[in-house]
Amino acid sequence: MEIHLSVLDGVKDRYETPYFDNLKRYAQRPIGTFHALPIARGKSIFKSNWIRDMGEFYGANLFLAESSATTGGLDSLLEPTGNIKVAQDKAARALGGDRSFFVTNGTSTSNKIVHQALLRPGDIVLIDRDCHKSHHYGLVLAGAQPLYIDAFPLTQYSMYGSLAIKPIKKALLQLKAEGKLDRAKLVVLTNCTFDGHVANVKRTMLECLAIKPDLIFLGDEAWFGFARFSPFLRRRTAMGAAAAIRELVRDPEYRRRYEAFKASVGKMDPSDPKLLDMELMPDPDQVRVRVYETDSVHKSMSALRQGSIVVVADQDFHTVEASFKEAFFTHTSTSPNLQLIASLDVARRQMELEGYELVGRAIQLAIEIRRQINGHPLISKYFRVATPAEMIPAEYRKSGFTDWGAPGWTMTDTLAALDNDEFYLDPTRITLLCGAAGYDGTQFKGVLASEHDIQINKTSRNSVLVQININNTRSDLAHLIKALADMARAIDTRLADGGEAEQAAFRARVKSLVEDVPDLPDFQRFHDAFRDNPKSATQEGHMREAYYMAYDAASCEYVKLDSKAVDERLAKGPELVSAKFVIPYPPGFPIMVPGQVVTKEIITFMRKLDVKEIHGYDARKGLELLKPDALTKHKGK
Ligand SMILES: Cc1ncc(COP(=O)(O)O)c(C=O)c1O
Repeated sequence: MEIHLSVLDGVKDRYETPYFDNLKRYAQRPIGTFHALPIARGKSIFKSNWIRDMGEFYGANLFLAESSATTGGLDSLLEPTGNIKVAQDKAARALGGDRSFFVTNGTSTSNKIVHQALLRPGDIVLIDRDCHKSHHYGLVLAGAQPLYIDAFPLTQYSMYGSLAIKPIKKALLQLKAEGKLDRAKLVVLTNCTFDGHVANVKRTMLECLAIKPDLIFLGDEAWFGFARFSPFLRRRTAMGAAAAIRELVRDPEYRRRYEAFKASVGKMDPSDPKLLDMELMPDPDQVRVRVYETDSVHKSMSALRQGSIVVVADQDFHTVEASFKEAFFTHTSTSPNLQLIASLDVARRQMELEGYELVGRAIQLAIEIRRQINGHPLISKYFRVATPAEMIPAEYRKSGFTDWGAPGWTMTDTLAALDNDEFYLDPTRITLLCGAAGYDGTQFKGVLASEHDIQINKTSRNSVLVQININNTRSDLAHLIKALADMARAIDTRLADGGEAEQAAFRARVKSLVEDVPDLPDFQRFHDAFRDNPKSATQEGHMREAYYMAYDAASCEYVKLDSKAVDERLAKGPELVSAKFVIPYPPGFPIMVPGQVVTKEIITFMRKLDVKEIHGYDARKGLELLKPDALTKHKGK
């Protein structure tokens, strides 16, 4: 009986959604509203002859549950003391943090809040250049200096992988060698990436903490919130790693291993190259676990669009609590959407009660789609899903893991790969290669939408990304398989009917998409005008200064991307220096940031780029650059 009642008690606790429950009660009460928000209670809508259909479409509850008041038990997102606070505490428990904060403007805003809360002007942040644009804008706002580290490239698919541990360590050791380590405050890890690269967060953190024991980590888990509810993937979340590290450094066995490590390494000499190849261990007496995770709850759980959360496991949170609050105030609307807050509360309830089952099913479905496409005799002639072995270079898969269900591979082996490999692939993020069918990613996305009613988001030169989440079913799988089979059959017929000329044109198109892929450009460097010491081995720069320089039109010039002038300046100077963030969307990471020297590789890449929407670039005007004389003047300041 006691066990039975305990289970019921546990279910009840998880079932309770304090904010949503209260909002439902609120909607049923008679309320006289004498404040803003005419749609609250819906009278002006349902009594209207002209917009009543809106009320009928959305239903009365949407309006009955609207208010701009924070009294009467509704609580305030900006100063939560009641049911929002309880809902946030429950979400923190569900996601494995000490505390959490609901955010109603997407993870774009969550990221900016974290940057602004933790950073001061001049602080250095280690970050991959191809991370989401919200980080770059966050750094401009905070005035911190990005030290861009390039993720490993997957040139054949025109995409980046993720940040490996070695280049992060190298940057930290260089900072240490130059006496700048105290300015390194934060490491940003995109986990998982758009294309599904999942970092070994625990090992990354441990090795970084061995160099700087109070480093803070921001895990951008916009896509990965659901992973908490998979017993396999949980260990690779920022919160999973934070919990594991807290436990590890208290373990006497770890202390013994650390003492042996310390005895073998001695005083860490940052110029010693062997440190890059060995696994570094942090001092258990020095280490501080300071981890922030941002999740787009709307991307992988049942929250309304823009519902996001910041989850915190920071032993020293008390030292930043005030600045966190300021940053939260800076970015949060004074009119946050009540339905969004309620949906965050409800998404948490769902994941606590059925997340295990839903996520397990999504993973199973994703693995099945992968198998069906790659094993289908007709489809696989033209379309293929990139396997983990193709998405992750072998040096980061020491276990030898190649694919789910590979012959002779057991669950124990998979768990070892999950525990130890530097990168793992999120099975639910499926890179579907379409180059061999003669489609570039954007074209293929268009055909899927217009002819097969299938929506996808991200594309690359020769692939599209198929994402599976807790909302997908076997009928979605059947829909996709049918569309691919129809397309493959149509190509077969076209090639057979078109004869040699058609086949030659097709081969040439496929070659251009699959083989003639542009190299992915590295970040390289900020212009000297934005560097404290141009001779420094570390590449951090004053991006904010470059950003504001571009506000003055007299400091900027435009050069057409295809013009001779670009080639001449690349060959003979003066250097081309970007005035803007240039961000192809999707996937939404910048290929240029303000103050960055534009290299030949970047120009070649841009000339070959196949997406239509490039933020910060207007093809009619050309590239917006900072003028050489303005740079000279700025440098002399
Ligand atoms: C890695 C990453 N972080 C953050 C975001 C922004 O999230 P949101 O759309 O919730 O603002 C995205 C969006 O695509 C993303 O890919």
